[in-house]
Amino acid sequence: MNKENWLKRGYADEPVDKTLDLKKEIRSLCKEKNAVVLGHFYQADEIQEIADFIGDSLALAQWAAKTPADIIVMCGVHFMGETAKILCPDKKVLIPDLNAGCSLADSCPADDFARFVEEHPDHKVISYVNTSAAVKAVTDVVVTSTNARQIVESFPEDQQLIFGPDRNLGNYINSVTGRNMLLWNGACHVHERFSVGKILELKKQYPDAQILVHPECKGAVAKLADKVASTAGLLKFAAASDKKDFIVATESGILYEMRKKCPGKNFIPVPPEDGSCACNECNFMRLNTLEKLYNTLKFEWPEVQVPHDIAEKAVKPIERMLEISAKLGL
Ligand code: 13P
Ligand code: SF4
Repeated sequence: MNKENWLKRGYADEPVDKTLDLKKEIRSLCKEKNAVVLGHFYQADEIQEIADFIGDSLALAQWAAKTPADIIVMCGVHFMGETAKILCPDKKVLIPDLNAGCSLADSCPADDFARFVEEHPDHKVISYVNTSAAVKAVTDVVVTSTNARQIVESFPEDQQLIFGPDRNLGNYINSVTGRNMLLWNGACHVHERFSVGKILELKKQYPDAQILVHPECKGAVAKLADKVASTAGLLKFAAASDKKDFIVATESGILYEMRKKCPGKNFIPVPPEDGSCACNECNFMRLNTLEKLYNTLKFEWPEVQVPHDIAEKAVKPIERMLEISAKLGL
């Protein structure tokens, strides 16, 4: 065990015996340690297969808040691990690779956002869950793409609002609610890669297909959509639709669950603007592998930590989101 190397790499970099049945080993470590594996829809197929629970950002937070497990392994990105740790400070929260960040969260440095908030004292602050714990600490309510619209609408119409960090989601919510929220200028590098051109090319090939778009995509892309929604919302829409073909503009990991939930339907991933293969993957999400998950459980490292003073402030807007979502039945 070379802890110095682990620290340098950000994950437990130990050789894994190639003859092991990793899925079996992972399940038995979970049992032995009373651990639960939570996975986001953008994880590699083999991680989604092995996870105890897979879901969107809201469902992962809800699940973390209620699990009786002693250890939560978050197979997602760092802000998801932080959210779980903030909600469950007494539990051990692990993430297979500490380098699994998020370009959208990184587009909103906490000090700059805190200054922006201070400059607008009359505004309430709504932050997308894709933010650091320090940004959540200066936020009134956290939202995900599943509940953003309803939470924004829960504020009186004359209440001025700041929305950060995703300008695309913010613009989309402004357009459907008629609000004029002040937006932080951040974006996700994966969703910004989807283009109108590639979607129209696919629509020519599949004229009956419905177009499914995540709201982190640019406005022009969202305008083409039959449905704009979170990953869970897009899944639900596809399952309920009587159409057979779906053009999917979000990270391609979602196709695993779409194909599983909707056998017989045809899901066509949109390639990024600058590529021909349909592999618009989030490089951060894809840092998690079965080997790293196995080592994380075995060595109980790396652990997600949130400084106490920040966690104390960040927990309030997250709990507010969970309370409102529960009332709305989300
Ligand atoms: P969802 O909450 O819709 O799963 O989105 C999370 C995310 O990171 C999108 O890029
Ligand atoms: Fe962040 Fe974009 Fe990856 Fe989602 S897809 S985790 S928003 S970088």
